[in-house]
Amino acid sequence: MSLEMNPIDEADIESFFSLVEKNIGIALDLSKTYLIQSRLSSVVTEHRFTNHAALLRFLITNPIGVIHWQAFEAMTTNETSFYRDSSPFEALRTTIFPELFQKRRETRELNIWSAASSAGQEPYSIAILLREHFPELIAWNIRIFATDISEQALEKAGSGIYNHTEVQRGLTEAQIERHFKKLPNGHYEINPELRSMVQFKQMNLIQDWPLMPKFDLILMRNVLIYFNQNTKAKILKRLYSQLSDASSYLILGSSESILFDQTYQIVQLDRVSYYQKKIH
Ligand SMILES: C[S@@+](CC[C@H](N)C(=O)[O-])C[C@H]1O[C@@H](n2cnc3c(N)ncnc32)[C@H](O)[C@@H]1O
Repeated sequence: MSLEMNPIDEADIESFFSLVEKNIGIALDLSKTYLIQSRLSSVVTEHRFTNHAALLRFLITNPIGVIHWQAFEAMTTNETSFYRDSSPFEALRTTIFPELFQKRRETRELNIWSAASSAGQEPYSIAILLREHFPELIAWNIRIFATDISEQALEKAGSGIYNHTEVQRGLTEAQIERHFKKLPNGHYEINPELRSMVQFKQMNLIQDWPLMPKFDLILMRNVLIYFNQNTKAKILKRLYSQLSDASSYLILGSSESILFDQTYQIVQLDRVSYYQKKIH
C-alpha cells in the first residue's frame, strides 16, 4: 500500500476543510493543504486507504462516523508546554489569585477552567503554581476543570506522564524534582496530589456545552486563533455567561484579543490583557 500523496482534487480538499470547520470549528484554506499529508497519514494507514485522496473521498461522501472524528482530531494542533508564555502565570501569582482569594474568602471555593487544555500542561501549571505559592489554601475547595476535543491529548493529560523534553519545557529542575516521580522508563509522572486537583473531560467548544459550574477563572489560550470570527464571537458570548461575576477573569492566548466585544472590559496587567465582565 502506498502512502504517496496522489494529487487530490482541490474541490475535495475544500469539501474536507468545510467538514472540519463545521464539526470542530477549525477554519482552513488551500494554503494549509500540506496538513493533509502531514496529519492524516496515521488515519490512512490504520484504515488501509490506498492514499490520502481515497481517505478524503471517503470522508466527504459518507455520513460522519468514527473515521471522521479521527481525521478531525488529527487536524488539531496540540502544541503546548508548562507555564507557556510565562506572563499570565506571573499575573496569576502576583495579582489575579491574591485578588480572587480575597473576594472568595467567605466561601473558600474557586472554580477554574482550562478550556482546550491539550495534554494537560496548562492545568497542571496552575495546580503547581497554587501549591508552590499559596500552600495555605490547601483547605480550600479549588477545582480545576480541563477540557479538550482531542481524546489522545486527554488520555496523556489524564496519565500525568511526560517525557524529559516535555517537563523541561517550562519547569525548573527543582520543580521537576518536587512535583514528579521519575519512572523506570525515564518518563516523569506528576504527583497524585496535583493530579487529583484536575478533572479532565472531552468537550467540543463548538457543540453544546455540558452543564458546568460558573468559573472564577477561565483560560482559553491558543485555540480561538483557529476559528473564524463568527465562531469566536459565539464562544466569547458563551464564556461571558460561564464567568461567575465581574471579579472573575478570562485569559486568552498572547496573540488573541476580543477588542470587538463590548461586553468585556479589558484589564491591563504588565502589558498583557485579561478580560472581565463589564456590568451594565
Ligand atoms: C494549541 S493547543 C492549546 C493548548 C493550551 N491551551 C496552550 O495554550 O498551551 C489547542 C488545543 O485546542 C484543541 N481544540 C481544537 N478545536 C477544538 C474544539 N472545537 N473544541 C475543543 N478543543 C479544541 C486542540 O485539540 C488542542 O489541544
